[in-house]
Amino acid sequence: MKKVTAIYPGSFDPPTNGHLDLIARGSKIFDELIVAILRNVDKSPLFSLGERRLMLESMTSDFDNVQVDTFDGLTVDYAARVNATAILRGIRAISDYEYELQMALMNRKLHPELETVFMMPAEQYSYISSRLVREVAQLGGSISDLVPEMVEQRIREKLDPAVKLQNVRPRKAGKR
Ligand code: PNS
Repeated sequence: MKKVTAIYPGSFDPPTNGHLDLIARGSKIFDELIVAILRNVDKSPLFSLGERRLMLESMTSDFDNVQVDTFDGLTVDYAARVNATAILRGIRAISDYEYELQMALMNRKLHPELETVFMMPAEQYSYISSRLVREVAQLGGSISDLVPEMVEQRIREKLDPAVKLQNVRPRKAGKR
């Protein structure tokens, strides 16, 4: 039977528990799932593309059929390059629907063979967005239920470089 490869495109700045939930669901229904991080030169992201890639690779290391990649240009062109036949997107609430519908229809216009598949994350993640995670973290709120522990640590280091220094163990006297 023909194998179905899907891409899961997004900014992932930072990746959240909601993204991870969707990746887990997508990995069950597609043969191959490529988490594709958009290299968007217009935005000033919190995390570089390389940092986002490393976080996503660590988060998805237990899934044998999930890979992480980066892309620029049109999502449909990237999908064609990697022989994907589906785009996975999450819909959290009705407010997502209009934007997602518009994108899905535009992508269908550009590449009619490519199907967009919407999945819903678990209810407990339905209010999480990368933007709100950044905002809450920047203003000192807890993000521990919103992102994996490793991502939380990276965000803390990014917002307060002193946190990173605290985690660097001092060299033992006499050792070079
Ligand atoms: O996680 P995001 O930021 O909502 O993801 C948006 C993304 C990356 C899926 C969308 O901006 C996108 O596909 N950008 C690539 C450029 C493109 O194909 N634009 C036309 C989309 S209809």
